[in-house]
Amino acid sequence: MLSAVDDKAFRAVLGRFASGVTVLSTVHETVTGPTDHAITVSAFTSVSLDPPLVLACVDTHNRFHDPVLSAGFWGVSVLRESAHETASWLATRGRDLSHQLDRVAHHRGEVTGTVLVDDALAWLECRTRAAYDGADHTILVGEVLAAAVSGEADDPLLYYRSHYGALVRWPVSERGLDPAAPESDPSSGSGGG
Ligand SMILES: Cc1cc2nc3c(=O)[nH]c(=O)nc-3n(C[C@H](O)[C@H](O)[C@H](O)COP(=O)(O)O)c2cc1C
Repeated sequence: MLSAVDDKAFRAVLGRFASGVTVLSTVHETVTGPTDHAITVSAFTSVSLDPPLVLACVDTHNRFHDPVLSAGFWGVSVLRESAHETASWLATRGRDLSHQLDRVAHHRGEVTGTVLVDDALAWLECRTRAAYDGADHTILVGEVLAAAVSGEADDPLLYYRSHYGALVRWPVSERGLDPAAPESDPSSGSGGG
């Protein structure tokens, strides 16, 4: 029988997988009417190109969990380097939800009406296609309804071992020698962009 992995070792490995940082957002119905909710999420990835699908893993203990499941749609904002304070704020447990977006410049997605953070590189609007049991997380698979990138911003916020950071680009590229070549397939395993 396989032995249980050491919790510290497991967390140490996960922390060494550098990632981008997103904000997931939704609008759900409450007694006071439609209510926004948004949290910082790094467990986000592409799933399928045709149809366009992405996934995000949401902790079942988060207050965001039930609202996003009941709403059935959500936004994804891929944060810029300059949005580290937003990332930190929307990861603060117990923050006042009714005013959490007062300090975050945002606009609304045209398809779903969910909040999208202005200080971002790119945005998606998704409809939940499936929600899988992932033990203490739910794996949300979203069908992408709308996608947009910022014309100006190209400076992602990164996360590694509990630290925020910025990208240092090397001249090496999967695009080969032709700078006009299309970006690589993000689901092909060789990494996107
Ligand atoms: C960099 C970073 C990445 C995070 N990634 C996730 C994630 O992928 N999934 C998740 O459920 N929580 C993630 N969190 C934690 C939530 O943002 C945090 O628990 C938040 O306070 C939940 O808010 P809520 O209780 O109002 O829903 C992350 C936090 C940080 C700082």
